[in-house]
Amino acid sequence: MADELVIKDLHVQVEGKEILKGINLTIRKGETHAIMGPNGSGKSTLANTLAGHPKYVVTHGEIIYKGENMVAWGPDERAQKGMFLAFQYPMAIPGVTVANFLRTALNAKRKAAGANGNAKSISIPEFRKLMLAKMQLLKLDQAFATRYLNDGFSGGEKKRVEILQMAVLNPEFAVLDETDSGLDIDALRIVSEGVNALAGPNLGVLLITHYQRILNYIKPQFIHVLVSGKIALSGGPELALELEEKGYDWIIEKTQVS
Ligand SMILES: Nc1ncnc2c1ncn2[C@@H]1O[C@H](COP(=O)(O)OP(=O)(O)OP(=O)(O)O)[C@@H](O)[C@H]1O
Ligand SMILES: [Mg+2]
Repeated sequence: MADELVIKDLHVQVEGKEILKGINLTIRKGETHAIMGPNGSGKSTLANTLAGHPKYVVTHGEIIYKGENMVAWGPDERAQKGMFLAFQYPMAIPGVTVANFLRTALNAKRKAAGANGNAKSISIPEFRKLMLAKMQLLKLDQAFATRYLNDGFSGGEKKRVEILQMAVLNPEFAVLDETDSGLDIDALRIVSEGVNALAGPNLGVLLITHYQRILNYIKPQFIHVLVSGKIALSGGPELALELEEKGYDWIIEKTQVS
């Protein structure tokens, strides 16, 4: 189906070591799924694999997107087809301003979408209007537009600029890897509101988080717990509260028994 992302028995190796050991997950447009789980369980590995990072090697299984197995697609193709990943540790690109970066990314996407149509590059004034509107939504100072991407940005600023990127690119599927880490209380609310403003029937979200806190703002319908490269347990929003209270040990024990 065009409206879902289906991960089937996904096994992934990093530097020769198997990290993901058979992930099955379907995310439909309009749904928000949260992935929680202990440090090192493979959450970022899943995010990087979805983004097409070359270090993450799919040894088995499929990722079906728009009716095709996208495992062989490069990161550019995935982005152009509507996938978006907000990184846990966004990279700095000195020499490239936020505005230039965003406009280049948006134009690349438009060009790909219009490869057999008549999509045009966005004009600079039109782009500026779009970017400023999104910056306002995320309560980001306009001065960020002319700063070099993530260069000297605080942790929280980087996360906000990731969501700005998402707002400008308007993806169909977004993977947010610990977008809440390092945010102060106000920034957490603003970023969450930004994500919620983008959410709707045309967006699927995979939200990776350690904290129940962000789930007070962004409401996933499904929560999955990743343990040692496998989804050990899935449930509804109430599962996050249970995890906050009880931790992960009881799930880890359960997986070892079975
Ligand atoms: N590029 C890499 N090189 C070597 N090992 C890696 C690499 N990426 C991931 N790993 C290993 O894979 C395992 C899972 O890491 P991953 O970053 O996916 O965990 P995580 O669930 O995101 O943890 P955290 O909650 O700390 O962010 C870890 O043992 C990690 O060291
Ligand atoms: Mg991680």
